[in-house]
Amino acid sequence: MTDHVLIFDTTLRDGEQSPGATMTHDEKLEIAEMLDEMGVDIIEAGFPIASEGDFKAVSEIAKRSKDATICGLARANFKDIDRCWEAVKHAESPRIHTFIGTSPLHRAIPNLTMDEMADRIHDCVTRARNLCDNVQWSSMDATRTEWDFLKRTIDIAIKAGATTINIPDTVGYTEPGESADLIRRLIAEVDGADEVIFSTHCHNDLGMATANSLAAVNGGARQIECTINGLGERAGNTALEEVVMAMRVRHDIMPFDTRIDTTKIMAISRRVSTVSGFPVQFNKAIVGKNAFAHESGIHQDGMLKNRETFEVMKPEDVGLAGTSLPLGKHSGRAALRAKLDELGFDLGDNEIKDIFVRFKELADRKKEVYDDDLIALVRINEGAE
Ligand code: KIV
Ligand code: ZN
Repeated sequence: MTDHVLIFDTTLRDGEQSPGATMTHDEKLEIAEMLDEMGVDIIEAGFPIASEGDFKAVSEIAKRSKDATICGLARANFKDIDRCWEAVKHAESPRIHTFIGTSPLHRAIPNLTMDEMADRIHDCVTRARNLCDNVQWSSMDATRTEWDFLKRTIDIAIKAGATTINIPDTVGYTEPGESADLIRRLIAEVDGADEVIFSTHCHNDLGMATANSLAAVNGGARQIECTINGLGERAGNTALEEVVMAMRVRHDIMPFDTRIDTTKIMAISRRVSTVSGFPVQFNKAIVGKNAFAHESGIHQDGMLKNRETFEVMKPEDVGLAGTSLPLGKHSGRAALRAKLDELGFDLGDNEIKDIFVRFKELADRKKEVYDDDLIALVRINEGAE
């Protein structure tokens, strides 16, 4: 089995399904271009039957794509599949992604028996495969689907010509051990498993999407579905930046590679946040404002001596200029001195000592002490001497 993991980005489809995250046509084209340039393997550009706007965006992204495969989503019916093909067919490398909810709760909605659903899967994957060589099948809510029926749906999809089999954890219900076991067991027991790629698609309802995706890879999945900043319905999807950086930083125990140019992560994170209107939480892993910021004295002192003391990856690796050591009430003298040096002050130990006292007084009153505050403190101190 290869150690290459395909990155399937669904920011423009599942991400955009977050209430309030709608993007304009031009914004979608811009994000698709950034995803393509950063090395995403498959871009799920939208749901072509959903609206005229989605159809146009997917078609245009397909026409402009460079390296990435362009995928569109289609429910398991001929109308959706045909419309999807009309949009993605312009791509150098198109993919149709078709799905149906297979768990008891989801089967009850279209009111299909297991046999009827099995026939539907066969007919729809066959239809998609007659249009396109690259077909992805998803048994939606796979992690809450009975084992025998899940296996049956996947057997049928593979026989009908699916090339990728996606196992969605649609409501973020699974946990890492179960996620790995499910993929491992499917690969062991499904006929033709070695001819397809198994994919993981996790939601973050219980905060385990990243862990579940990585566990699925350990179980044999070789495609991760994810979004920038973890954008997505409810608590979101697996965050691209988290899985990619985790496999890079812990390559010793997760020896998997992707094509992602990680130095482009910050730029796309900021752009997706702006166009979707979804701010990134300050303490979000990898891309949060505080992900490479250290305020406490012990941490700042450690960072000034050796950055590996409190950072497991370099900010430059994700496209940030560097670590930041914001000054606040927890900061120590070493960080104050480093900051004053950086501001061009050449001060002796006694002056630093006095300014440090004034700095602590100020920091008790202010959340963060800025460069201008420090310059003012130096001037006040000079006046007091
Ligand atoms: O969460 C989900 O199950 C989905 C499918 C359409 C793959 O987004
Ligand atoms: Zn989803």
